[in-house]
Amino acid sequence: MRVVVGMTGASGIQIGLKILDVLSKRGDNIDLILSKPALRILQLETDMFPEDVVEKATFVWDDYDMDAPIASGSCRFDSVVVVPCSMKTLGEIASGISQTLISRVADVCLKERRKLVLVPRETPLNVIHLENMLKVAKAGAIVLPACPAYYTRPRTVEDCIDFIAGRVLDMLGVKHSLYTSWEELREDELRED
Ligand SMILES: Cc1cc2nc3c(=O)[nH]c(=O)nc-3n(C[C@H](O)[C@H](O)[C@H](O)COP(=O)(O)O)c2cc1C
Repeated sequence: MRVVVGMTGASGIQIGLKILDVLSKRGDNIDLILSKPALRILQLETDMFPEDVVEKATFVWDDYDMDAPIASGSCRFDSVVVVPCSMKTLGEIASGISQTLISRVADVCLKERRKLVLVPRETPLNVIHLENMLKVAKAGAIVLPACPAYYTRPRTVEDCIDFIAGRVLDMLGVKHSLYTSWEELREDELRED
């Protein structure tokens, strides 16, 4: 599988890092794009350096490199995940303005009818954010907000990260053991009764 992973300057870069980790361990081909604001978030939210992140990818592209092969629909990547997705990048995708490589590959993905998963992170949401989410969903994107479930009783931030990363991987059809499904939780509960 060839997946394009775009990370933008919204909070929650750990979710993207977890997805990168799982895909690289599986041996998938990963095209990675980190926006400039994402590098600042990486510094704020983790102890990792950009070098630690890029080593997990097969190809790494600059967010302003419109010459990159993935900027074209003729490049046969399977899907694009933008995680985390800032409201700025969401707005670009919703309006079809492809000023960065991340918004361009998302645009390509929609026009080629391939899978696009966006993981927005903002709170509270204004009407513009909500309208943009509706617009991209109508255009075929999967909008998967960085909202963990609580019935799994997450104990750590890592648990919350794993839940969202796991749901994104579910959308890509990737098997993982990042969270316990409701079905499994229910079976455990019934066994205890
Ligand atoms: C510490 C910090 C946290 C931020 N968190 C968010 C966020 O959760 N959601 C969001 O939409 N923007 C957030 N931003 C703002 C984006 O980084 C900013 O809009 C940026 O232009 C996004 O550009 P990009 O989408 O090209 O990465 C944050 C900025 C900083 C410095």
